[in-house]
Amino acid sequence: MSLHTIYLHTVHLLTKRTGFSLALLLSVNLLSVNLLSVNSIAGDLGPSLSFDVQPVFDTYCVQCHMLEVAQAGLVLENGEAYANLVGVKSTQSDLLRVSPDNTEASYLANKLLGTHVEAGGSGSGMPLTEMGHRPLKDQDLKVIIDWINQGGPDS
Ligand code: HEC
Repeated sequence: MSLHTIYLHTVHLLTKRTGFSLALLLSVNLLSVNLLSVNSIAGDLGPSLSFDVQPVFDTYCVQCHMLEVAQAGLVLENGEAYANLVGVKSTQSDLLRVSPDNTEASYLANKLLGTHVEAGGSGSGMPLTEMGHRPLKDQDLKVIIDWINQGGPDS
């Protein structure tokens, strides 16, 4: 085999390989783009505690549920909410404040839906709308309910 032939063979092989790996890269990229869009369409990622739920607490709840004046002993400030909610017993009923994957058994959800007395609790529905405090919008309520149904992760 002459040197020239060896060279041609090598170029031929490289082109074939490069072409192959380019095609592979392209399909891997397409696949990950597809996976991403499928995830967001199906909502598999679900609401996150820090990005979705905490802003709702900040807007509607922390005025009365902050470290200094934690009504019912519940602190909903950034960085405190998870440890105050998930798997923690409510002070007004036998339920947990958040029972992962189970809104019926979560006192927080009952307080927000107004079913807290039937669930064995007491007091008013939340947020307490006295003194100009705003009621929750449907989409904000949904964020919290979806987060509980998703297991109440510290995400
Ligand atoms: C204006 C003040 C005020 C606001 C705003 C408020 N709360 Fe409350 N919260 C209270 C008071 C007072 C209690 C205890 C008396 C009662 O339940 O009526 C309480 C009790 C609770 C309890 C019961 C805790 C337990 O251990 O049993 C939960 C859960 C709760 N609040 C969640 C929230 C959430 C979530 C928000 C925001 C969406 C919110 N609250 C907004 C004043 C407030």
